[in-house]
Amino acid sequence: MLKYVSTRGDTPAVDFETAILDGFAGDGGLYVPQTLPTISQQQLSQWQGLSYLELAFEVLSLFIDRSIISETELKGILKDAYAPFEKQEIIPLHKLKSRSDTYIMELFHGPTISFKDVGLAFLVNLVNFFLARNNQRLSLIVATTGDTGPATAHFCAGKSQLDAWVLYPKELITKEQERQMTSLAHANIHPFAVSNCPKGGDDLDAVIANLYADDEFKKTLKLSSVNSINWGRVMMQTVHYVYGYLQIAQDNDGNYTAEQINVSVPSGGFGNLCAGALVREMGLPIKYLIAANNKNACLDRIFSQGEFSLKPLQNTPSSAIDILIPINFWRYLYFKTGQNGSQIKAWNEAFADTGKVQFPADVQAKYQQGFLSYSSTNEQTLETINNVYQQEQYLLDPHGAVSLVASDALSQQLGSQKLICLATAHPAKFPKVIKQALQTDTFPQAATHQSVEDAKRLSEKVRLCDFSNLEYALRAAMQTHWQHSHGKNLQGKDSQLPGSSS
Ligand SMILES: Cc1ncc(COP(=O)(O)O)c(C=O)c1O
Repeated sequence: MLKYVSTRGDTPAVDFETAILDGFAGDGGLYVPQTLPTISQQQLSQWQGLSYLELAFEVLSLFIDRSIISETELKGILKDAYAPFEKQEIIPLHKLKSRSDTYIMELFHGPTISFKDVGLAFLVNLVNFFLARNNQRLSLIVATTGDTGPATAHFCAGKSQLDAWVLYPKELITKEQERQMTSLAHANIHPFAVSNCPKGGDDLDAVIANLYADDEFKKTLKLSSVNSINWGRVMMQTVHYVYGYLQIAQDNDGNYTAEQINVSVPSGGFGNLCAGALVREMGLPIKYLIAANNKNACLDRIFSQGEFSLKPLQNTPSSAIDILIPINFWRYLYFKTGQNGSQIKAWNEAFADTGKVQFPADVQAKYQQGFLSYSSTNEQTLETINNVYQQEQYLLDPHGAVSLVASDALSQQLGSQKLICLATAHPAKFPKVIKQALQTDTFPQAATHQSVEDAKRLSEKVRLCDFSNLEYALRAAMQTHWQHSHGKNLQGKDSQLPGSSS
């Protein structure tokens, strides 16, 4: 049976279900498969022509033991997860006219119109499936830079086994993104708008880590997370690389060509790129993966200077990737260092102590292979949105634009392979940026989306809090909710909650 281990190497191997329901490993590391499965050329050739759902079933089956989820169950979870997507292809590819062999993978056709829907549609359904089977409940806490929160809230809404606590940096996301969380009336969705976060979403992650470190609190409230610390997110995102690859690695007659391709990925936490890097390790013929950053450049520094370092937050038009700590890089590095958990742990400790790790040259050489990186300036992002729109009436969101800025800038190094740029959000989530980029007040139809308009007509429900009080306020709100919904019913009397007496 394929087991899962921690990147810090200090916890026993667990099965797939435990890795998914726990989120973090017990030693604070991230779960990864004990051995990476492989994908052969023959498999790829057989998978040519499969639908997204059929392909997802094949790829996920490499990671999930049949004794944990049966074939019928996995197919059912996938079918339910992607039913609300608005395109039959789930993640269609759009060929650009203004560049040769360049395809935009539109990952934003789910209910909250960002690529987070692609991972979370499946993961939340999977978690709920396990919980229903075990007759358990979980409290999920997620931090968001604007897209994970809406997708988590949407897929958790009304699910009887789940409470979703969704934290966002109030001033740093768009009103459209905020409404996607606050306009849900369901009693199990708890948005928290947090003001004055100096490091944006990364601050919220730190508070979540503190709650996780409190064992009693964690166990009593049954905490877990579906942020991309959860292996299920990374695993599900491997599918879109294989799907995109098979869509374009074919000749005019639809025959499999086995060619290499390049993929450009707008990145922050490295969750999406980690999926691409691991699926390439497994055998998918990707020549270059591009870590496309904005000015926050956390990955560009790692790939170009070997430096994993914390710098002050800069606000950019691609706000969802205003991220300072690419936590999923550790998963990739774990495999690139021969699964050396104690080394990963030592680097994590050094980063926690000093805010910086400088990787040795031999380590850099290993992880840099097949990677290019670039940091887009704000001007380049806006110009690219405008240029592509003027050239071919195709409207990119600011994050999709960052991926294209990077691939344009690196075109010399990339060579002649076909290229996929991932577009991770719909432009309707970022109307101010689109107006600024197109220098117009007349909004193109492509910059609107019905779901965004619908949300404007609904009332909002949210808890407000300053970052300085977040941990206290969150604990109090979670405890009160827990007591209200479980205390008397489960225990038959008022229960003493962790921390509630002090
Ligand atoms: C629109 C969008 N693009 C890209 C990213 C970056 O993804 P990752 O954190 O997996 O690198 C995010 C979120 O983090 C996002 O919301």
